Amino acid sequence: MDPTLFKGVTLILPEGIREGDLLVKDGKIADIGPSLPEHAAHIIRDKGLTLMPGVIDPHVHFRDPGAPHKETLASGSKAAASGGVTSFLDMPNTTPLATTRDTIAQKKAIAADTSLVNYGFFIGATPDNLEELQKVEQVPGIKIFMGSSTGSLLVDQPEDLERIFKSTPHLVAVHAEDEAMVLANKAKLEGSTDVWDHPRIRTPEAALKATKLAVALAEKYNKRLHICHLTTQEEAEFLATHKPACVTTEVSPQHLLLAGRAMYERLGTLAQINPPLREERHAEALWKALKAGVIDCIATDHAPHTLEEKARPFGKAPSGMPGVETALPLLLTLMNQGKCSIQDVVRWMCETPAKLYNIPRKGALKTGYDADLVLVDLNAQKTLKNENQITKVKWTAFDGWPVKGLPIATYVNGNPVFREGDFFLEIKGQALTFMV
Ligand code: DOR
Ligand code: ZN
Ligand code: ZN
Repeated sequence: MDPTLFKGVTLILPEGIREGDLLVKDGKIADIGPSLPEHAAHIIRDKGLTLMPGVIDPHVHFRDPGAPHKETLASGSKAAASGGVTSFLDMPNTTPLATTRDTIAQKKAIAADTSLVNYGFFIGATPDNLEELQKVEQVPGIKIFMGSSTGSLLVDQPEDLERIFKSTPHLVAVHAEDEAMVLANKAKLEGSTDVWDHPRIRTPEAALKATKLAVALAEKYNKRLHICHLTTQEEAEFLATHKPACVTTEVSPQHLLLAGRAMYERLGTLAQINPPLREERHAEALWKALKAGVIDCIATDHAPHTLEEKARPFGKAPSGMPGVETALPLLLTLMNQGKCSIQDVVRWMCETPAKLYNIPRKGALKTGYDADLVLVDLNAQKTLKNENQITKVKWTAFDGWPVKGLPIATYVNGNPVFREGDFFLEIKGQALTFMV
């Protein structure tokens, strides 16, 4: 492929914001400078646009294999590309469960054939798949559901958790909710059809208890721990003073932006996710923790269920909402509102996920790095709408939200995969590398 030269764009570089050019050759960033020579290059002149590294979404549920009516690696990766996401890490609660080397290999094979962007797959922990967890290679980590959620994955017995923390080589990522506390609360509120009871079943205390246990185990075994989707002020305050170097955490845009009873009244079970959306004080504390660096990065927890499934009454509706394609526009909107800088967005969504998961040559605009890029128009505005969503489930909890700051074009390993509504479906992403 001809080299591609981005000419006269705003570059978000690790050293600062610069006007200039960026040359892509053989899928890599070959050169960056104020004015690069134009010979032998396919030239992209997008004056006024900003070039940033592609977003790395470290937490999605693309439902492949097993639930193609909700999403597939093809449809999910397409939604990702439209949202400026060039790499994703997919969770193991697929069908069959991704709890063995074989099922991981199966998911990688589907992705190699169908994913538009780069991919990695977590292996799921069960009480009895230790050998698989020990022997699997090239995964971002081991996912432990300390409390049960969508699907049947669950490891809630302390001795099982100890064994996994003690004797596996990989990073451990946890869904931290205390199963026993959640079950006890559920029994008390049995039969409730009020979705506002969701955060009263899955309480801040249940999240804090599991988070504290995970941190204690990480400290005891000096284990690399990533706490998925932080949701409470209590956890943020705990981590502000108890976050050893081996521990990192993430937050989702929905937990930053959607809160309170009125929101639940408006969205009904569309707002039902695990761990839940909560009162406003939590969203405020999470934003502060992100700004302060207590929370390391953003993850979408894209967990699509169809509108039909979500229309079941509370108690029967599944938990989860889509989000892979709305995250970058929502964060750029916060940037435009003066709440953070574009460098913050790049650090939270590109640079840090690459660092946390030891993914080499990604997450920054640097010579020699992979050309995973997104061209954004920081001034473009639109209203998010269900019918415009690329995800198979065609809805967003942010339906009707005005956003400012949109991805215009997305490049994966130097290849255009998305531009202004069009997809280049012949391009395929690559398996991510995880350094050990
Ligand atoms: O709300 C959720 N949905 N939380 C999870 O932990 C799983 C996810 C899903 O897969 O639907
Ligand atoms: Zn989870
Ligand atoms: Zn999840």
